[in-house]
Amino acid sequence: MEKVIIRELEESELEEARKVLRLSFRGKELHWALNDLKYTYVLAALLNGRVMGVVELFETFSEELGGVGVIDYIAVSPRYRRRGIASKLITSSEELFKSWSESYVAASTKGSNIASINLFRKLGYKEVRRGEEGFEKLKYLTYAYGDDIIFIKRLRR
Ligand SMILES: CC(C)(COP(=O)(O)OP(=O)(O)OC[C@H]1O[C@@H](n2cnc3c(N)ncnc32)[C@H](O)[C@@H]1OP(=O)(O)O)[C@@H](O)C(=O)NCCC(=O)NCCS
Repeated sequence: MEKVIIRELEESELEEARKVLRLSFRGKELHWALNDLKYTYVLAALLNGRVMGVVELFETFSEELGGVGVIDYIAVSPRYRRRGIASKLITSSEELFKSWSESYVAASTKGSNIASINLFRKLGYKEVRRGEEGFEKLKYLTYAYGDDIIFIKRLRR
């Protein structure tokens, strides 16, 4: 497979990033994924110079956990899925969060999103499901209002 490059999205690539999001989300999720491009740190996965994947990141803080890097939305263009691109975007996000001195990285998804659940499980994230202890606090911390599962991973001791 051609080499995938992960780096910060450039202003000139915004329309390509929007295209990936439009192919990956619908309804409310699409609305917020497009909206959040303006307010998040965006990493892009480039294949032959074209944006094939994006991840939107922000940081938050709690007294209990310290700095928490949040994976807001992640998407890979349908034709390029199952090639490890999302996994690369996540490991690059983790590295970035470490460089920002975050203690944890968190993400969230709906209980019906099998691809996303398997993806974060494979990368060693712990799951906290709606109804379980700590879920509500994490939901507010990560702005995961519509989601049923929060994924969390410690970045440093
Ligand atoms: C979820 C998503 C980002 C995964 O992207 P990807 O580049 O295909 O993921 P990867 O290739 O890195 O997959 C890593 C692992 O995740 C799991 N996975 C990914 N897609 C899967 C699917 N369709 N079904 C089941 N498991 C899946 C697998 O365990 C996979 O490892 P494997 O290929 O060795 O079996 C992509 O499917 C997507 O853009 N979906 C729409 C947007 C979305 O739901 N985003 C997540 C919520 S914000």
